[in-house]
Amino acid sequence: MLILGIESSCDETAASVVKDCREIRSSVISTQIEEHRKYGGVVPEIASRRHCENILGVVSQALDDAQVNLSDLDGIAVTYAPGLIGALLVGVSFAKALAMSSGKPLIPVHHIAGHIATNYLSFGDLEPPYLCLVASGGHSHIIEVLNYTKFRVVGRTHDDAAGECFDKCARAMGFPYPGGVHIDNAAQSGNKNAFKLPHPAVAGSEFDFSFSGLKTNVINLLHNAEQKGTDINKNDLAASLQATIADILTDKTIRAAEALGYKKVALAGGVSANTGVRATLSAACKERGFEFYMPEKNLCGDNGAMIACQGSYNLLAGIIADESLNAVATLSMEDI
Ligand code: KG4
Ligand code: ZN
Repeated sequence: MLILGIESSCDETAASVVKDCREIRSSVISTQIEEHRKYGGVVPEIASRRHCENILGVVSQALDDAQVNLSDLDGIAVTYAPGLIGALLVGVSFAKALAMSSGKPLIPVHHIAGHIATNYLSFGDLEPPYLCLVASGGHSHIIEVLNYTKFRVVGRTHDDAAGECFDKCARAMGFPYPGGVHIDNAAQSGNKNAFKLPHPAVAGSEFDFSFSGLKTNVINLLHNAEQKGTDINKNDLAASLQATIADILTDKTIRAAEALGYKKVALAGGVSANTGVRATLSAACKERGFEFYMPEKNLCGDNGAMIACQGSYNLLAGIIADESLNAVATLSMEDI
């Protein structure tokens, strides 16, 4: 089975061909990060325009690299939700046109389900059910992966996502967008015990997250130091912030796994590239004898292979769309 996956929900135009669910035959990613960096974040209108310009080239390259033609494909999978609506529409419209002209099935894929699927690409033997922490720029979710296409959200953020917290704190510290990776690099030479940062609790929701208080605390700390003319060691602050985010994510995920009886835990999403999050969750799972899975670093960020992989499982489950498929900016995983 050969599936083409198309991703355009944010600032990466990506396409990939995946064989038999888990074998990546090609993966092409055209990133717009340099252009959005000037504005300190993704500018939706610019993102949509660049997707329009890049999508044909990216998809053609993915087919060429995999040495397949459109006629060899068994389906065309596309991210239809959630994300920037104008950006999603480019991928959805392109995939629809391709599916209609070739007569191939059109397969709708939820972006977070795609992130979860990166672990199938990294681990040939991973099978549901398991518990997955998905942390990215837009989402922080603890998800029960009941089977390849059914999910139950057991924890979510009430405000900022973990990646957003990394990026906004990084910005206040003077790092370029997206700042998560710069915090990660700076943290390598910092002391994680230098700053005591808050671990905000969410009253009444045991497995939910809240990162806005932590973000505000870091921003206030930087402003106060600036006003007083004192120096803050950025490496120490980065290390303290990273350790705090890693502890919060790990603590809730482990608590959810124990409460729900999961001994198999996975990590996914852009923030799964973070050294501290990887090490802390991995160690906590090892301590309890849980199986632990996390994607290779090159699969953590947005890519087409995750959409092709999840698209393969959707097709096997009979999840296909017709030409009425629309892009959706916000959609819970439980409504797919
Ligand atoms: O999954 P993703 O590529 O896009 C969304 O679906 O949101 O995630 C992007 C997020 C950004 O917030 C970025 O700063 C963060 O992932 N990120 C990291 C690291 N690499 C990417 N955060 C912390 N440490 C990293 N090494
Ligand atoms: Zn993503």
